[in-house]
Amino acid sequence: MEIKIKKSGSAKLTMHDGKDFELPMYSGAVGPDVIDIRTLYRDSGAFTFDPGFTSTASCESQITYIDGNAGTLLYRGYPIDQLAEKSTFLEVSYLLLNGELPNKDQLEDFTHSVTYHTMLHAQFDAFFNGFRRDAHPMAIVCGAVGALSAFYHDSTDINDPHQRKVASLRMIAKMPTIAARAYKFSIGQPFVDPRNELSYAENFLRMCFAVPCEDYEVNKVLARAMDKIFILHADHEQNASTSTVRLAGSSGANPFACIAAGVACLWGPAHGGANEAALNMLTEIGSVDRIPEYLAKAKDRNDPFRLMGFGHRVYKNYDPRAKVMQETCHEVLAVTGQKDDPILQVAMELERIALSDPYFIEKKLYPNIDFYSGITLKAMGFPTTMFTVLFALARTVGWIAQWSEMLSDPSQKIGRPRQVYTGAPERDYVDLSQR
Ligand code: ACO
Repeated sequence: MEIKIKKSGSAKLTMHDGKDFELPMYSGAVGPDVIDIRTLYRDSGAFTFDPGFTSTASCESQITYIDGNAGTLLYRGYPIDQLAEKSTFLEVSYLLLNGELPNKDQLEDFTHSVTYHTMLHAQFDAFFNGFRRDAHPMAIVCGAVGALSAFYHDSTDINDPHQRKVASLRMIAKMPTIAARAYKFSIGQPFVDPRNELSYAENFLRMCFAVPCEDYEVNKVLARAMDKIFILHADHEQNASTSTVRLAGSSGANPFACIAAGVACLWGPAHGGANEAALNMLTEIGSVDRIPEYLAKAKDRNDPFRLMGFGHRVYKNYDPRAKVMQETCHEVLAVTGQKDDPILQVAMELERIALSDPYFIEKKLYPNIDFYSGITLKAMGFPTTMFTVLFALARTVGWIAQWSEMLSDPSQKIGRPRQVYTGAPERDYVDLSQR
């Protein structure tokens, strides 16, 4: 990776003892400037304190840019809505990994490479069968992705660019097969093998919903919707799971284990699990006439209830992914015959009322991607336990692109945050008989 940050000035820090420190400042292509504190501890003896990394850029990156105030999300400079409308998930994957949109030959070559890596080693199925019958699909995916490192020894040398590329293709290609098998196992149905003549999304839908006793034809509208959902979730700069993958990878760990760490982090309800919470809330509201009651609860400071699928740490404007998700939701419900679904009516009315309510306007609370994705995935036939698995499948390419970028960054070091220690000071060991 070519270092592109530019020195833009300096910041002065005056300590309580009156000593001054001059810290360099840098600019990226767009977005806020950063203060370089790398030498601060060495020179001043003080750390900075930023739990949750709300003011800390952990790396330089050229993959994804978010402007939360403007409601902008760019992959390699391209707006997410344009990519969702005009591109495909595999083209977007190539873009995220390589920095530029592919030409026709490059896209064909990449598509072929992914398509011809979709099968899992035959012994891998025995691994699935070792899980408890009622295992959560996300638990299976987490374990199975980590287990890839035990099956593909020829692509774990992270210092060899060719092996890194093979590991990346394998991850992107095998993730749908793993995700679909996790689902099939959890519902007690036989595994369905990948088909090379189908697109990435079509193949995934078939592996999830086909059964051996009848033919399965992939619905084109649903396949396109699935592909768009994958595009919308493909990357989101230094979020918790991506930072986890980078941190795991910073020690030189093998790629499959790093992605398993990302899957584990994504599983949490504060990250990948919010769409399930949004769907549960809409189901609980149940009908349009109950909306005022729930809005009052959301605005009551003494009530812990929050409007699920509203608000975002970074977006203080309409989440650009939510707009595409809303359109996709309407397209899906039209073909599944659920356009009059009361849950959709509740969602649309809730959005309309909340967007004109002073509480939500003042606090800049807008629908996020999770507001409509739960309804859409449910209509496509996925149970709620699969929602985060689908997110992990799509985000794998982002994790891989960020992991790869980190390894090629000459300033990369093992990630090792410091702490403010507030535990017991040094004391002598007390013998058991005297405690
Ligand atoms: N409903 C009602 N009030 C809300 C909501 C909400 N969904 N979200 C934030 N607020 C209020 C808070 O109570 C707070 O009010 P106060 O200033 O009077 O104390 C104010 O808005 C600011 O909220 P914070 O919690 O400080 O904002 P933060 O950036 O920490 O939170 C978060 C962002 C966690 C996403 C929050 O908006 C939330 O809980 N939303 C609902 C859950 C959700 O949809 N999560 C998905 C996020 S998207 C994703 O992960 C892909």
